Amino acid sequence: MFDDKTRCVVLVGVQWGDEGKGKITDVLAEQATLVARYQGGANAGHTVLVGEDEFILHLIPSGALYPDVRCLLGNGVVLDPRTLIDEIEMLQSRGVEIEDRLGVSRRAHLVLPYHKQLDGAKEAAKGSGRIGTTKRGIGPAYRDKISRNGLRVCDLADRDYCWNVVREGAATANALLAHFGVDERADPEAIMSELEFVASRVLALGTDTGSEIRSELSRGGNVLLEGAQGSLLDVDHGTYPFVTSSTTTAGGAAAGVGIGPTLIDEVLGVVKAYTTRVGAGPFPTELQGEEAERLRNLGAEFGATTGRPRRPGWFDGVVVRHAAGVNGLTGLAVTKLDVLDSFDEILLGVGYQLDGVATADFPERAADIERVRPVYEKEPGWKSDTGGCRSWDELPEAAQHYLKRIETVSEVPIRLVSVGSARSQIVRVG
Ligand code: IMP
Repeated sequence: MFDDKTRCVVLVGVQWGDEGKGKITDVLAEQATLVARYQGGANAGHTVLVGEDEFILHLIPSGALYPDVRCLLGNGVVLDPRTLIDEIEMLQSRGVEIEDRLGVSRRAHLVLPYHKQLDGAKEAAKGSGRIGTTKRGIGPAYRDKISRNGLRVCDLADRDYCWNVVREGAATANALLAHFGVDERADPEAIMSELEFVASRVLALGTDTGSEIRSELSRGGNVLLEGAQGSLLDVDHGTYPFVTSSTTTAGGAAAGVGIGPTLIDEVLGVVKAYTTRVGAGPFPTELQGEEAERLRNLGAEFGATTGRPRRPGWFDGVVVRHAAGVNGLTGLAVTKLDVLDSFDEILLGVGYQLDGVATADFPERAADIERVRPVYEKEPGWKSDTGGCRSWDELPEAAQHYLKRIETVSEVPIRLVSVGSARSQIVRVG
């Protein structure tokens, strides 16, 4: 992926998250010198298998598992300091030394305890209209950032400033918690004690991520900007309001670490060979009943952050074309092809019908996306084990045909195909 002309790559999820970005980041990180996350927070759950060891990372970039890679959390990330420290310690306890090669943007906003309380209380109050958030405080933390009530990493050095923000934030949160009808309240003094406990360790990691990335590129390093969630969860381009609260798409990568977009050379989209979604919201190619159960079990489709069962469905070409456009994808990494190994027949969504009219466009309104009927092509299954394939020629003919159809429908060339969760189970194309 990286070469003389490709030195800065953005990696984005093409569907509703959980596409296997952790595995692809880990594969690309072999050639990267620096990996940075640019948005989201501990709502992400990236699973990486190193040998027999499985690591689930929520905040720290998946590149952490290569010992010489510098890992950054950009200004666009919302940082839960306690989760960060727990994750550093989890890695250390399993032999991965990370603290001396980890940096967090001094401009990154903090997720505070009342953000998590509000996330839970708002969801509970919404009843059946809930978004199905991860309850990690993501929406409320971004709301405080945009409404200019947030606390940033750099502020941890100023106790009085922190106290003023926390006191006001807790008072506002408590009024909202009362409004949502819950008894829980934010305690500003307890929050301050917690911040005092983590401050020196978090401040020691503080850096200017944009300036670090620019220097890394000028000295010939390879930089991977790692997106979390997926394009259809993007706050602007996703299935609003059933989205997360950040710009998950490639356009957010430059702003989320502090570089200009002209430094980005390639945008690699990670796409599952089928589709899943976790949380509420429209999902046109969703399967139900036994077929859903079969795909969920074969793909082990349970959330890495919340453990919730994911909703499975067929590949949706309209979703992927939409994502290709808004991200400017230059290549695709198709993951979990092996999960389809035992199917006699595989459906591939190529368009939608909305009120009886064919459309190739992705509707803006969730209510319309709920109503579309997918148009499918039926593809023959390959009925053989692809887990051992390491080159295009080793893939069964029907699998090659299925991948070629994905490429044509998406209008993006396939660069990588993942055929299992191990690092080595990867096919490089072209
Ligand atoms: P939030 O990001 O916790 O506010 O959740 C908003 C929506 O995004 C919910 O539907 C979540 O299930 C979904 N979501 C957030 N993070 C992830 C992820 O890493 N993978 C898949 N879905 C996610």
